[in-house]
Amino acid sequence: MDTPWWKSAVVYQIYPRSFCDSNGDGVGDLAGVRSKLDHLERLGVDAVWLSPFFRSPMRDFGYDVSDYCDVDPLFGDLADFDALVADCHARGIRVVIDWVPNHSSDLHPWFQEARASRSAPKRDWYIWRDGTPDTPPNNWRSAFTRGPAWTWDEATEQWYLHLFLEEQPDLNWRNPQLVEAMHDTLRFWLDRGVDGFRMDVIHCIGKDPALPDVDAKLAPIPYCALNDHPSTHELLRGIRGVLESYPGERTSIGEVYLLDTDRVATYADPGELLLAFTFPPLYAAWTAPAWHDQIERAERAFGSRDAWPTWVLSNHDNPRHRTRYGSEARARAAAVLLLTLRGAPFLYAGEELGLEDAVIEKSRQVDPGGRDGCRAPIPWDGSQDHGWSGSEPWLPWPPERERRHAEQQWSEPDSILALYRALLAARRASSALRTGTWTALPAPEAVLFYKRESSDDARFVAINFSDEPQAISPPLALRVEISSGPSASGAAFRGRLSGDEALILAIDA
Ligand code: GLC
Repeated sequence: MDTPWWKSAVVYQIYPRSFCDSNGDGVGDLAGVRSKLDHLERLGVDAVWLSPFFRSPMRDFGYDVSDYCDVDPLFGDLADFDALVADCHARGIRVVIDWVPNHSSDLHPWFQEARASRSAPKRDWYIWRDGTPDTPPNNWRSAFTRGPAWTWDEATEQWYLHLFLEEQPDLNWRNPQLVEAMHDTLRFWLDRGVDGFRMDVIHCIGKDPALPDVDAKLAPIPYCALNDHPSTHELLRGIRGVLESYPGERTSIGEVYLLDTDRVATYADPGELLLAFTFPPLYAAWTAPAWHDQIERAERAFGSRDAWPTWVLSNHDNPRHRTRYGSEARARAAAVLLLTLRGAPFLYAGEELGLEDAVIEKSRQVDPGGRDGCRAPIPWDGSQDHGWSGSEPWLPWPPERERRHAEQQWSEPDSILALYRALLAARRASSALRTGTWTALPAPEAVLFYKRESSDDARFVAINFSDEPQAISPPLALRVEISSGPSASGAAFRGRLSGDEALILAIDA
């Protein structure tokens, strides 16, 4: 059987606000994305994932949706979206969009109706509890503010649940009409030709109906990082049914924000999610033992359930790995790691340019979760506005924008952008790298050395996590296919790695 596309695809995450502005209002938009497809095609990505562009009051920059079936005017309109999908498909790039099923905006008409009275027909589409205004119904904390995950509604004298901001009330997935309405929102975009969905905090949609307190020791942790209720699995099977009622292989990539790889993998059981983001590696230190441990955990957890792992180093919620790991040399080595592991790799726009987080002074910070730095705008060229239609972008630029813009890096054969492009091409050309097995090989403590192997193909990968040279003993004659450092591609491999160097090695025939 052919491998489904989403298993071997490299998915490129676009945060539309920060990608490219076509109309000079300082905020990126869908036409801006469309104008940069040459960059994506040349880089060689298989799919894009667009963070939310739906109608939204933007309290959480689009993760607070007030209409699931329309484009916010800030980003364009449905015709812009259709044109983007058509252009992507014409270039062989699939389109994945971000579905936010756990909560809506408080300005969504559903919540407006629900909060109108206790007997409103849609009251039960959200989660309400009796009580007194001074004592929330349980000890769950919300993300960002870390205050109670409950807000008292004065007018109707009940509490409503929100695992995020009070402007993001949680939807009640125990209500069959709500479930059907949310399935309809999937159908709306499936009908428009999307290839799948990234599903926001999907592990939170099913909750214990008794809403019990969490253990006092865990109580300070935002509840969205703790919720892990069996009812979610049943709901995921329903969602999968919707995707499977459409032709083509529509994918689902769930954000399962549980910092336990074994637990995450349960959401990728048969009939549930096709892919589940595994975030513990995102928080792992840049050392060979830490990564070896993370990889083996994922191999065990996903391998034992016949599920497919995912790999992420950066996204719109966390400091970029270029910033976390502290140097371009390490970011280059990390790119080799990310793109040679067994599983589906996700790139975050700008990592191919080696961008660091912007340093943002207090007066310009806007995100309630403090995540502005990694959302800095992408510099496209050397002009004064870096390709941003003359506008001052909504957030300050990342460091070194004068030399890290895309145009400059396309002109340099040794840029990090050229490295990403070469890695994507090598992956595409090698069944071992795309879908082969992963086996660790003996190496010094600072080095991760592994083999990827399919029935008719093999590659070896060596990553030096230290800035000192290291030596390994290859089991057979190898040559360098790609180096993140000084080794020349095509050269015979002599067992030596420079500091911070990562290599893809092919068998020397
Ligand atoms: C997810 C998103 C994040 C958002 C949150 C609430 O974690 O990635 O950006 O703030 O959900 O929707």
